[in-house]
Amino acid sequence: MKNFKRTLVTSALPYANGPVHIGHLAGVYVPADIYVRYLRLKGEEVLFVGGSDEHGVPITIKAKKEGVTPQDIVDRYHGIIKKSFEDFGISYDIYSRTTSQTHKETASEFFKTLYEKGEFIEKSSEQYYDEQAHQFLADRYITGTCPHCKNPNAYGDQCEACGTSLSPLDLIEPKSAITGSKPVLRETKHWYLPLDAHEAWLRQWILEEHPEWKSNVYGQCKSWLDMGLQPRAVSRDLDWGIPVPVEGAEGKVLYVWFDAPIGYISNTKELLPETWETWWKDSDTRMLHFIGKDNIVFHCIVFPAMLKAEGSYILPDNVPANEFLNLEGDKISTSRNWAVWLHEYLEEFPGKQDVLRYVLTANAPETKDNDFTWKDFQTRNNSELVAIFGNFVNRALVLTQKYFEGKVPPCGELTDYDRETLKEFADVKKQVEHYLDQFKFREAQKEAMNLARIGNKYLADSEPWKLAKTDMARTGTILHIALQIAANLAIAFEPFLPFSAERLRKMLQMPHVEWERLGAIDLLQAGTTLGEVELLFDKIEDAAIEAQIEKLLATKRANELDNYSPNGVKENVAFDDFAKMDIRVGTVLACSKVPKADKLLEFKLDDGMGGRTILSGIAQSYPNPEELVGKQVLFIANFEPRKLRGSMSEGMILSAENADGKLVLVEPSKTVVNGVSVG
Ligand code: 2FM
Ligand code: ZN
Repeated sequence: MKNFKRTLVTSALPYANGPVHIGHLAGVYVPADIYVRYLRLKGEEVLFVGGSDEHGVPITIKAKKEGVTPQDIVDRYHGIIKKSFEDFGISYDIYSRTTSQTHKETASEFFKTLYEKGEFIEKSSEQYYDEQAHQFLADRYITGTCPHCKNPNAYGDQCEACGTSLSPLDLIEPKSAITGSKPVLRETKHWYLPLDAHEAWLRQWILEEHPEWKSNVYGQCKSWLDMGLQPRAVSRDLDWGIPVPVEGAEGKVLYVWFDAPIGYISNTKELLPETWETWWKDSDTRMLHFIGKDNIVFHCIVFPAMLKAEGSYILPDNVPANEFLNLEGDKISTSRNWAVWLHEYLEEFPGKQDVLRYVLTANAPETKDNDFTWKDFQTRNNSELVAIFGNFVNRALVLTQKYFEGKVPPCGELTDYDRETLKEFADVKKQVEHYLDQFKFREAQKEAMNLARIGNKYLADSEPWKLAKTDMARTGTILHIALQIAANLAIAFEPFLPFSAERLRKMLQMPHVEWERLGAIDLLQAGTTLGEVELLFDKIEDAAIEAQIEKLLATKRANELDNYSPNGVKENVAFDDFAKMDIRVGTVLACSKVPKADKLLEFKLDDGMGGRTILSGIAQSYPNPEELVGKQVLFIANFEPRKLRGSMSEGMILSAENADGKLVLVEPSKTVVNGVSVG
């Protein structure tokens, strides 16, 4: 790798139309922050730039729904997002926004430069127009029937029922989402960045010059390039965004994906109005974009093409994009509220930002999508942070307090075992660096954690608490070594768990941390008085985890209720068809599990007609079937008898499925005579 003088790190600008969740943190912001902290610790010159992405159609849709202005929406969420990042220690040098004056000017100038250089092509095409609202309709503002699955509520860019990407012209019976009217096609002019004209150098630059990029990133770029690049429109007919700065472009704004990455430049400019160009135009600057996988094409192809077209900017040296984090097996979704929101997490687990940082890094979706589960969160906290890291540090400090009045004891003669232990962590620095330099944060954190494991084992094997009765000098040596390991932990974990590392430094009275010193065994001087001892991490109880799981189940239930109406309703049936079903009431006389059939229960019913046997597949919902005896149930009396597992079943018992997937028997709200008809 070339020797750069400085590093500019950018992290994707989140849309300011909702708060940020654990998926954002795991995929983009924690890795970027770890990397930046690491470089700073090494004494390198680094700038970390972030901000909110405040344009785009979804923001206008949300504003319309709430009856407020788009500016109200972005003001609200920019504040929430910025605070979440501060709370989680994401150490930006600047976190600004794309509605700032500096950004409006920078993006506008950027467009003008490209326009004047003739880097765009102008094209007219037919797009849907709402004649009642007097405006062109963005893809999301058009709904209609999906040509593939016939979902009547597909959007102009995508059908959420079958997942197909659509173009508004694909929709059957399109409707304007603003007025409900039928839109008409009207001609409109837009500016396009001819990516096809950039294909050759992009191919050379990415595929030939950057084989070291992560395979998920490289692979996605290769497949885009192999498919052949097309011109991309960089303007939209919309009233929210940065006006297209050329004559005859009234009512048109820059496409959000054109202005957003320029936000990185604007925010650097806002922070460093005099020297920003050093960070963007000097070939000694190494630029890195931390993003999620859905942003790869924009950061590896579109934005570089924009920078190249402008002519005076550097290109990114790497784009370490991550895959996605799922939550309890399901895709995180803002619209379904299937997420752990950062601001809510902090309300429910105050002071535990490092626990989440730790778990998200341990499970980072670096090479494939990964899953976050609350059980895993609890286990990693209790069995790793508490039992290994916290426990080791606590034992070293408490024993020092107990036997040496809280002062670092001197180091006596070393035994072979001491030397072995010291050797074991001597190259921790090399190991952690090896992984961090390749953006392998989970492995890097594992190596750091290994130090705590070494420390724990050392204390457990050396048992200083026993030796303290007979040999204080030896006890002192052991604790001296243990405290040096603890001091190493304070350095190694500074990029990963900054809050805990700081508390640990305070306990150890270490004023400075220098990455260079990681692995050293003289970080603490004998005789130094240590600070007050506190627990670095504490146990997370089952009740806290169960509460989180219950919260998610409630979300699931609410989503399912939404799904029941109206789309889940089956086709209409005529009364005659309904009347064919003979639904009756019966009382359960006996109920037991069918041997060798996991799911089946055998019901003996008093059906008012001499009794009958019905087998029903609800055993997993009723582990104690005898409790059902005496209950009244509804059953279909004329359901064709059938043989199940060798026994005849004479009917079907009605049950409803609950949100947790359990079946619940349906019973009359008052006792009725057995055998009466229901209708
Ligand atoms: O996907 C997103 O959330 C976009 N708002 C990311 C923009 S990154 C950059 F280009 F600003
Ligand atoms: Zn569909």
